[in-house]
Amino acid sequence: MTIQAIAFDAYGTLFDVYSIRELGDRFFPGAGVALAELWREKQIEYTHLRTLCSTYKPFWEITQDALIFSCKKLRLNLTLDAQNALMGQYARLQAFPENLSVLQQLRSDGLKLAILSNGNLHMLQSAVEAANMQGMFSHLLSVDVVKKFKTAPEAYQMAPDIFALPAKNILFVSSNCWDACCATWFGYTTFWVNRSAAPLEELGVVPHGEGRTLADVLRFIDMHRNK
Ligand code: LAC
Repeated sequence: MTIQAIAFDAYGTLFDVYSIRELGDRFFPGAGVALAELWREKQIEYTHLRTLCSTYKPFWEITQDALIFSCKKLRLNLTLDAQNALMGQYARLQAFPENLSVLQQLRSDGLKLAILSNGNLHMLQSAVEAANMQGMFSHLLSVDVVKKFKTAPEAYQMAPDIFALPAKNILFVSSNCWDACCATWFGYTTFWVNRSAAPLEELGVVPHGEGRTLADVLRFIDMHRNK
């Protein structure tokens, strides 16, 4: 298997969506963890529902809808100030600490890197800038172009198209098991960054590699490059 390029999922993989729990706790003491978890769950659910029903709208708006729903469900009074602050933080999420040096290493190994994300371009640019990752990626691929969220094949097709490579020669890296599994079905070589030691989804498909942090991608590349 010859890996020539890598496409990274953004949220949860490069940027820590659960880092928002601290700010959540400031507005809603004791509820930060529950809010961060439900917010993420609803955000992803809405992307799937909207793709299934052909009712696309940008990820930024979906993220806001999911925040509003989650606060209602958890009976938290979401003021406009809190909403603006939480959404503002979402635009500048913390990156996982190992990421920048791993990306630098992969680039110096001659690999082409891209982000392939549900996030709309403005969100991705803002997160990349906040994480000092400017210049790491040759492409920021947003599904906003195809108006369908992952796991639609049209969304996954963006990286093979831009790199002019078969999907199997691209390593798709995601911390979301569902994303890594569906990208495997699509035809990518895949790596699941299983940060929370979660069980494998029961989908009858297994990502090609698995690790606990992004640094484990380096080992996988060493083992599989030019084989
Ligand atoms: C993304 C979400 C799925 O970045 O994490 O596409």
